[in-house]
Amino acid sequence: MNPLIKIPVKKLKCGFFLPVFGFGTWQMGGRETRNYENDDRADISAIKTAVESGIYHIDTAAWYAEGHTEELVGKAIKGFDRSGLIITTKVAPMDLHYDDIIKSASASLKRLGTDYIDIYVIHNPNPYIDISGTMKAMDFLVSRQITRYTGLSNFNVQQVKQAQESSSNKIVCNHLHYNLKHRGPLNDGTIKYCQDNDVMIVAWRPVQKGLFSGQEFEILEKICRKYNKTPNQAAINWLISQDNTVTISKTRNLNHLKENISSVGWKMDKDDIDLLMENFPDTTDTVENTTLAKLIES
Ligand SMILES: NC(=O)c1ccc[n+]([C@@H]2O[C@H](COP(=O)([O-])OP(=O)(O)OC[C@H]3O[C@@H](n4cnc5c(N)ncnc54)[C@H](OP(=O)(O)O)[C@@H]3O)[C@@H](O)[C@H]2O)c1
Repeated sequence: MNPLIKIPVKKLKCGFFLPVFGFGTWQMGGRETRNYENDDRADISAIKTAVESGIYHIDTAAWYAEGHTEELVGKAIKGFDRSGLIITTKVAPMDLHYDDIIKSASASLKRLGTDYIDIYVIHNPNPYIDISGTMKAMDFLVSRQITRYTGLSNFNVQQVKQAQESSSNKIVCNHLHYNLKHRGPLNDGTIKYCQDNDVMIVAWRPVQKGLFSGQEFEILEKICRKYNKTPNQAAINWLISQDNTVTISKTRNLNHLKENISSVGWKMDKDDIDLLMENFPDTTDTVENTTLAKLIES
């Protein structure tokens, strides 16, 4: 299969870059626990198809399907040139003590079948574990070239500041539940803080699991007509047209993959971004609400 598109990158002032669109793996191989009845071959094939289509940033986590999702990613990427891929995986919030992080990274490497992780992300903040010990371990992994970069996920402004103050490496990204429908990180200032401080925003759940094509939203329809795009394409482009913002989406469906990939290569006008920002119905879910109790990604 020939790549469908060359996915452009966004670059931070510090030199770190990510493609504007990457592939998510939540619910592949199971959810928070492994699903032994899952069609693993279909998941591996979906990841391979995504890479063959031109996607080269793959997001996974130690916590997905008890590590089995990482194994699926490992199997899927086997035949590809590793240096052309950007693999993000995440350490679970219960494993943020120094020794647990080192062990968790080593287990992830084994499951992924690789000898380095491009971006190692703290999946969620854990208020019960001292962040300075956590960041020391993250720094150690970078110093040993086990990981290339350190990232965060679901961290609010205060938590990003604390993590950066405790780290000798630049924190390059913050993964946030951010889309047209969930603008909590915009409302509580996390988006602005990341933009102002050279941190890439990796917006997760960009199509809110297909919500935008499942319901009619008049204001979105208007934008779709103007650009001749589908609601999912407009929703994804709304994200990637914003400063320091890229996204990751998961699909097992080839038509969805083609649709989502065509969200890149064009840019929504600033006025239209603002129009949707101001008028699309928002569910006010702030980063502050992301607690350990909300770990289940639903
Ligand atoms: N850091 C975190 O805390 C966190 C939390 C959640 C997710 N994530 C990451 O972010 C990735 C993306 O989030 P997500 O998977 O939850 O949500 P998403 O990408 O917004 O939506 C994925 C779901 O929507 C469907 N879908 C995708 N494209 C579609 C389209 N064009 N039309 C209709 N349906 C479509 C997919 O079903 P089909 O397979 O049938 O296409 C899938 O069930 C995850 O996979 C994961 O890697 C991170």
